[in-house]
Amino acid sequence: MANMVTITIDGRQVTVPAGTPVIEAAKQAGIDIPAFCYYEGFSVQAACRMCLVEVEKMPKLQPSCALPATDGMVIHTESPKVVEARKSMLEFLLTNHPLDCPVCDKGGECELQDMTFRYGVGESRFTEIKHHDVEKQWSPLVFYDPARCILCYRCIRVCDEGLGVGALGLSFRGVSAEIIPNRGDHLECDECGWCIDVCPVGALTSGTYRYKSRPWEMNYVPAVCTHCSNGCKTTLSVRNGEIIRANNRDRSGINGEFLCVKGRFAFDFVHNGERLQTPLVRRGGRLEPASWSEALQAAADRIRASIGRNGRAAVIGSTRTTNEENYYLQKFARQVLRTNNIDHHRSGDLITLLRLVGGRKDALATVNDLYTCDAALVLGADLAQQHPLLAVQLRANWRHHQSAVYVITEGPVREDQYAARSLRASAGEETGRLEELREELKARRNLVVLYGPTVKGDAVHRLVAFGDSLDIPVKYVCLVDYANSRGALDMGLLPHLGPGYRPVEIAGMTLDAMLEAPDLDLIWVVGANPLKGGRRFAARDAFLIVNELFLNETAEQADIVFPAMSLYEKNGTVTNVCGELQRTKAGPKVMGTKSDLDILALVAAQLGADLGVPLPDRVFEEIRREVPGYNVPLALIATGGAAQTRPPAVPADVDSQPELVRSSGDTLFTSGTLGRYSKKLAEVIEAPGRLFQVLVP
Ligand code: SF4
Ligand code: SF4
Ligand code: SF4
Ligand code: FES
Repeated sequence: MANMVTITIDGRQVTVPAGTPVIEAAKQAGIDIPAFCYYEGFSVQAACRMCLVEVEKMPKLQPSCALPATDGMVIHTESPKVVEARKSMLEFLLTNHPLDCPVCDKGGECELQDMTFRYGVGESRFTEIKHHDVEKQWSPLVFYDPARCILCYRCIRVCDEGLGVGALGLSFRGVSAEIIPNRGDHLECDECGWCIDVCPVGALTSGTYRYKSRPWEMNYVPAVCTHCSNGCKTTLSVRNGEIIRANNRDRSGINGEFLCVKGRFAFDFVHNGERLQTPLVRRGGRLEPASWSEALQAAADRIRASIGRNGRAAVIGSTRTTNEENYYLQKFARQVLRTNNIDHHRSGDLITLLRLVGGRKDALATVNDLYTCDAALVLGADLAQQHPLLAVQLRANWRHHQSAVYVITEGPVREDQYAARSLRASAGEETGRLEELREELKARRNLVVLYGPTVKGDAVHRLVAFGDSLDIPVKYVCLVDYANSRGALDMGLLPHLGPGYRPVEIAGMTLDAMLEAPDLDLIWVVGANPLKGGRRFAARDAFLIVNELFLNETAEQADIVFPAMSLYEKNGTVTNVCGELQRTKAGPKVMGTKSDLDILALVAAQLGADLGVPLPDRVFEEIRREVPGYNVPLALIATGGAAQTRPPAVPADVDSQPELVRSSGDTLFTSGTLGRYSKKLAEVIEAPGRLFQVLVP
């Protein structure tokens, strides 16, 4: 156990591990010491001097961010001497800083403004003309105003230490010193906007949000990012029904304040002018606008007729709809359409993993495990490109706890920068190099293994056998593509497995079989694009119903298109890549759209089918009862937490159908159909952009 010391701060005693910075010890005692350059989790800069405190028996004021706690210290954080020093520091900081809070984009949430109010700095002795430099646009998403910059270096550190991108640096000296981007006059980077988020003042501003609103004019909605499977919590700032910002400054959720470019900026697809806002019905060979009642009636009539003549039906579900919608969809398929022909685009071989370790205690890792594990092994995945939060977690673990990261991938990845060992292997051959790591891995206290879509079938068997032979605790993460790829599997959007991986009596058709079957009578595609790339259903005459946000390749072929809501517009739960379940809430409302749950329920009602009350909370109650591993603590998710689900073991004789596992191969700057309709994603320079490419300095 760490050597503990007791110190006294403003009369309150607090016991902390020796060496804890006094600023952190004060937090534990409930005392907030002002700071600009100190930023939890990053290296100490000790540049701003705002955190000065008075320490008894020390002649000079000390920066509390750089002062390790030692036993018996007596500290005063608000003594007259300290307050006077802070006033002076603020006076210096404001020497060249424009006093234009009423028009500054950061007004109302600026740390410098707050400090100036707190310490009542109303006057300055500096009467000289302020040094000024013009604002610069570094990218479509990042703007920099050097006049406002207080040189706290937070932006440089999050980019360099937090991400390993290192796109920001310092140039010039003295009053002329300013932050510069890696390409001199512009940025080529991850475009994550983390630097904007941590900037305490209005120096770095966001291309999507700047000058659109004041913080008190928006509603804040807790949602889960819809783009990748990592499940970052995002707080949507909604004004007049429109999302104008996404961040997570309260650090709630599994991602703290981290969001990648897609989570922070690519919400604009929601308000894209091409969103479908009215149902479409094919008449005379053309899709024409129709009322909701017409479209629902037409769908119900066609489904009734199909059931009446024992027509073959097929359902393709989504990896971005909620658990409630997916659960309801498979119920609709199995109970109303009386078919197990239901599937979705699978992007990771989770079923083989669950056959091998499902039901074992602690076999599946959480996002937090990536921050606390002693070692991690990544196979067949470019984490920084495809799983940005997981990449940031592993990196933070290495920085804070000196964990070891091992990589076996086809090409260079960003984790190579700090990996204990990086090995290259062709896609699908990754497990062939495991033995080379045996001795090193055996020596670690525990291990988390993350494997991508090229590791499937027998390779997962080899991987788990290797993990078992190490004689250390090993946990696994099967990497999948989208926000609810994991939930789609768990909810039973599978032809041979129902909710909770219960085998069904007669297996239905897989997605590939549905595409090739010549005799389908009815196909319902909910939030997926199986006809991308010019594919067609072999059953040319099948009646095609599609729930979609946009007129994508599949919707274009449909007979009825229902305009659906995106994840940001509805309530429900989603399950991330690690099996952690979170609640997401409805933010904006796009006129004319409905949730997939409502669409399914309305059609079911027309058909006289009783699938239960179609309210997200009621369906979730049923999921908790019926889906093994989903009986999660309600209080945890109700308060914005993530609860890990515990899927059961899948019977050993179940075919895991690894041949159907195919990743979409999205990068940091693409996101399937949604990415295509995000103008902001389309505008940025993709760097590095491709999988298995490190950022070229
Ligand atoms: S946007 Fe992200 S990657 Fe780019 S400079 Fe800022 S922190 Fe670095
Ligand atoms: S741009 Fe913002 S975060 Fe970066 S050094 Fe200046 S004030 Fe600090
Ligand atoms: S890492 Fe994934 S979940 Fe998190 S913000 Fe980025 S796209 Fe969204
Ligand atoms: S916060 Fe301590 S010197 Fe800046």
